[in-house]
Amino acid sequence: MNQPIELLSKKHKKKEFACGKEILDHYLRHQAGQDMKRKLSACFVWEDRETGLIRGYYTLSNNHIPLNTLPLKWKKKLPLSYTSIPVTLLGRLAVDTRFRGQGTGSILLVDALKRSYEVSEVIGSFGVVVDPLDEEAERFYTLFGFLKLPDSGKMFMAMQTIKILITALE
Ligand SMILES: CC(C)(COP(=O)(O)OP(=O)(O)OC[C@H]1O[C@@H](n2cnc3c(N)ncnc32)[C@H](O)[C@@H]1OP(=O)(O)O)[C@@H](O)C(=O)NCCC(=O)NCCS
Repeated sequence: MNQPIELLSKKHKKKEFACGKEILDHYLRHQAGQDMKRKLSACFVWEDRETGLIRGYYTLSNNHIPLNTLPLKWKKKLPLSYTSIPVTLLGRLAVDTRFRGQGTGSILLVDALKRSYEVSEVIGSFGVVVDPLDEEAERFYTLFGFLKLPDSGKMFMAMQTIKILITALE
């Protein structure tokens, strides 16, 4: 993939981003840069070559989930003494309405999974967790194979599955 997906910086037109979900627009415009400075999360953006607009963005950070919330298939592979499992949180993912339905969201998601996998080779992470805003977002992640975790509304994909996915796409 040759999409210019890179860390958010001052050169990006973040004020013009509009995905239709105020909370996600506000985050990019007013909070993402601060969170990056404080090392709370990393925000990656895809700038459209023709217009210079941000097509979409996603954020990544470290997180953990209780072992007992993992799907059985994965839980049984881990020692019971590991009560808390390190994961990568794909906290936000949004596409500007002007670039919807063109595969932008899919490309951003695959890029986030690939990046998470690469980091997991040097800093342990058992999988990627997403926190869908609403049912629509949940449907989007379900399309890609994310599994719902009990109680929290979060969804999970194991790093082993991600490895298979990205190897197939190479
Ligand atoms: C969800 C979102 C990221 C999808 O972006 P997109 O660029 O339109 O997605 P793509 O073009 O890559 O579409 C990929 C697939 O997802 C489906 N899809 C797209 N948007 C969807 C939505 N809102 N709900 C369910 N499925 C959706 C498409 O139909 C497509 O499937 P198909 O290939 O079988 O037709 C975008 O609609 C968005 O930014 N929504 C607002 C923010 C949001 O909900 N973010 C996610 C959680 S924080």
